[in-house]
Amino acid sequence: MLSKNPKKLIGELYRWHKVTSLPNIDLSLLANKVTSTVSGSVLCHVIIAKWLKKSGNRLKDSPQTLQRCSQTAASVAKKTVELLSAELENTFKTQYPFSVKTKSCFICHAGASSMKSNSTGKMNCITCHTDLSGVHAK
Ligand code: HEC
Ligand code: HEC
Repeated sequence: MLSKNPKKLIGELYRWHKVTSLPNIDLSLLANKVTSTVSGSVLCHVIIAKWLKKSGNRLKDSPQTLQRCSQTAASVAKKTVELLSAELENTFKTQYPFSVKTKSCFICHAGASSMKSNSTGKMNCITCHTDLSGVHAK
């Protein structure tokens, strides 16, 4: 990102992406509007699988799929410009903090001073670590 201090903007962009119903820009020339979904993720696999499921499409059903991805790219570009502008104007403030659940994992797993200090990343932990019952019960 074109920022002197890109880390916090990238984190904000990722967290915004996870909770926002996308695409949120309609550049469509199609008669049918493209379905928007909240992906909870920044991974293409997760995002597309959820979108296909909700929209009832298959990958081969372009142009809906192509429209979905190009409009989402436009949505993300717009958000990126907004974040960069906010930083430039000194008005940047985090609006999309980590979820309470994910923050609770950081306490023991992320950062040099945490107990285990064995994880890193910007994603929601429980998207993938769905069952921790055997892990922490011990
Ligand atoms: C109070 C501290 C604490 C918190 C909070 C915590 N963990 Fe852990 N976690 C541990 C410890 C300690 C271990 C190692 C367990 C062991 O060695 O038996 C562990 C192990 C794990 C493992 C590794 C499993 C393995 O087989 O070694 C995963 C994955 C994990 N935690 C994910 C999470 C996630 C996701 C969260 C948030 C929902 C979380 N933890 C919250 C302390 C914590
Ligand atoms: C996109 C899926 C995904 C996300 C999101 C994710 N993890 Fe993981 N994590 C994995 C996979 C896959 C492994 C490797 C598991 C293995 O090899 O047994 C792993 C490994 C780990 C381990 C090491 C377990 C060990 O055996 O020592 C810990 C601790 C852990 N994750 C914690 C977290 C925490 C905390 C978060 C949130 C900040 C998180 N993970 C987010 C998929 C994910």
